[in-house]
Amino acid sequence: FVGAQFSWCLFCMICSHFLMCFPSQMRISTHVFSSCVQLFRHGDRSPVQAYPTDSYQESSWPQGFGQLSQEGMRQHFELGQYLRSRYRAFLNESYDRHEIMVRSTDYDRTLMSAEANLAGLYPPQGGQVFRPGLKWQPIPVHTVPLSEEKLLSFPMHDCPRYKQLMNETTHTEEFIKIITEYKDFLHFINNKTGLKNISVENVWVVYDTLFCESRHNMTPPAWVTPDTIKNLSLLKDFSFQAMFGVYKQQEKSRLQGGLLLGAIVKNLSRMAIPDPKQRLKVHDTTLSALQTSMNIYNNKQPPYASCQMIELRRDDNGSSWVSMFYRNDSSKDPYPLQLPGCSQLDCPLEEFIRLTKASIPEDRDRECELTSSDSDKEIIIGLALSACVLLFLIILLLTIFCWKREPQSSHGYQHVVNVEAAAHS
Ligand SMILES: *[C@@H]1O[C@H](CO)[C@@H](O)[C@H](O)[C@H]1NC(C)=O
Ligand SMILES: *[C@@H]1O[C@H](CO)[C@@H](O)[C@H](O)[C@H]1NC(C)=O
Ligand SMILES: *[C@@H]1O[C@H](CO)[C@@H](O)[C@H](O)[C@H]1NC(C)=O
Ligand SMILES: *[C@@H]1O[C@H](CO)[C@@H](O)[C@H](O)[C@H]1NC(C)=O
Ligand SMILES: *[C@@H]1O[C@H](CO)[C@@H](O)[C@H](O)[C@H]1NC(C)=O
Ligand SMILES: *[C@@H]1O[C@H](CO)[C@@H](O)[C@H](O)[C@H]1NC(C)=O
Ligand SMILES: *[C@@H]1O[C@H](CO)[C@@H](O)[C@H](O)[C@H]1NC(C)=O
Ligand SMILES: *[C@@H]1O[C@H](CO)[C@@H](O)[C@H](O)[C@H]1NC(C)=O
Repeated sequence: FVGAQFSWCLFCMICSHFLMCFPSQMRISTHVFSSCVQLFRHGDRSPVQAYPTDSYQESSWPQGFGQLSQEGMRQHFELGQYLRSRYRAFLNESYDRHEIMVRSTDYDRTLMSAEANLAGLYPPQGGQVFRPGLKWQPIPVHTVPLSEEKLLSFPMHDCPRYKQLMNETTHTEEFIKIITEYKDFLHFINNKTGLKNISVENVWVVYDTLFCESRHNMTPPAWVTPDTIKNLSLLKDFSFQAMFGVYKQQEKSRLQGGLLLGAIVKNLSRMAIPDPKQRLKVHDTTLSALQTSMNIYNNKQPPYASCQMIELRRDDNGSSWVSMFYRNDSSKDPYPLQLPGCSQLDCPLEEFIRLTKASIPEDRDRECELTSSDSDKEIIIGLALSACVLLFLIILLLTIFCWKREPQSSHGYQHVVNVEAAAHS
């Protein structure tokens, strides 16, 4: 399953906000982040590539492929401002390094998105203004090399079992139906774009390029009709869905988004116990993987600068609730999301932990291994048994051989047996 470029594009940001309701011990973790840069409602970035017959090649874009556009910067700046207003009561007016930790995937556009976001979230106040007139201050953004990215980049390709599941997904009835239905369409796309290997799995590349170009008022070629876009969009949404769902969703979740979900649930549990030393964290993540692992994905690719908020509330009695909001449209209030199976919108923490448990891997490394088939096991057991029998025979032969050569030692042996027998009686 070809998904490499997909991975970091799939989702945009998660902003989780954990808070306690005792003002003296109030703590928040704001998970802000931006890793997204993909095909969405707003032309947030340049496309990641052009197709061979495209009249807009890399030089048509100010910074080349895959770069955050000014519109993208505005969107993230606006999101930062929104977070500031939403969490006004809990975030300190001035930047406090203990209050926030920012981590981004190691791409130009995600690092830049994070910075634009923080510019909106922490405009300097009073003593933090270091240059009069400049409404910006540096805030650290951490990252790790892509080869070491374990938390934020999906789908993760280090998992043989996941590869096997994706292979099986492409053989499901639903997948084959789509392939059959759009066979001619895919031929058409290959022919028009000059690409040779476009399939359901990677057709999003074409959609992405056309989408970004239309966002930037570039004239599409004649074969790009609204109907073509409709088909491309449908196939792209389906391939996104298939990556984490469609077939064996729970197991896929355990191998992908479940890792992050586990980290979040663990931190939620920890945050529910007031601890003045608790520090705040911000992380960047992949929305679809996380949402699918909680079964709240709406099967629509998250738009630019989307934000998933997870909030923990705690009352005087010590009970805690988890609420989730999804902000995918800056002109609307965030959508409240209910965890499937939970009795109420604000899900009691214990219930939240219980319901998400099945999507969190206990030992991902082991679960990612391919289980050797039963026939393999039989062979191994058979070999082990033969080896034991052989060993036993050799020992037996050696014993007989030695006994025959030293018959006098048999007295000592009998003596020991007698002592043992006496001890037992
Ligand atoms: C905000 O930060 C400043 C400086 O670090 C500190 O003096 C102040 O108490 C903080 N305010 C709140 C509400 O935590
Ligand atoms: C998918 O699995 C089938 C057997 O189930 C195998 O023949 C095929 O090579 C696999 N394809 C990939 C790409 O691994
Ligand atoms: C597309 O198909 C037409 C007609 O079958 C053919 O002439 C043309 O060479 C094809 N283009 C590509 C890029 O394969
Ligand atoms: C098509 O195949 C070529 C060579 O195998 C590969 O480099 C390219 O990335 C593929 N294109 C897509 C869109 O997957
Ligand atoms: C879109 O897909 C449908 C179903 O395969 C097909 O009938 C239709 O011709 C396609 N549209 C275009 C513009 O190719
Ligand atoms: C959870 O907390 C630990 C320790 O405070 C931190 O290292 C980790 O990054 C946090 N994870 C998430 C997803 O917030
Ligand atoms: C945003 O999410 C909500 C809830 O899942 C959904 O109903 C809505 O269509 C989404 N809007 C966009 C623009 O994706
Ligand atoms: C605490 O628990 C009592 C009894 O269960 C309940 O009546 C009260 O509303 C709770 N307090 C809060 C702040 O929820």
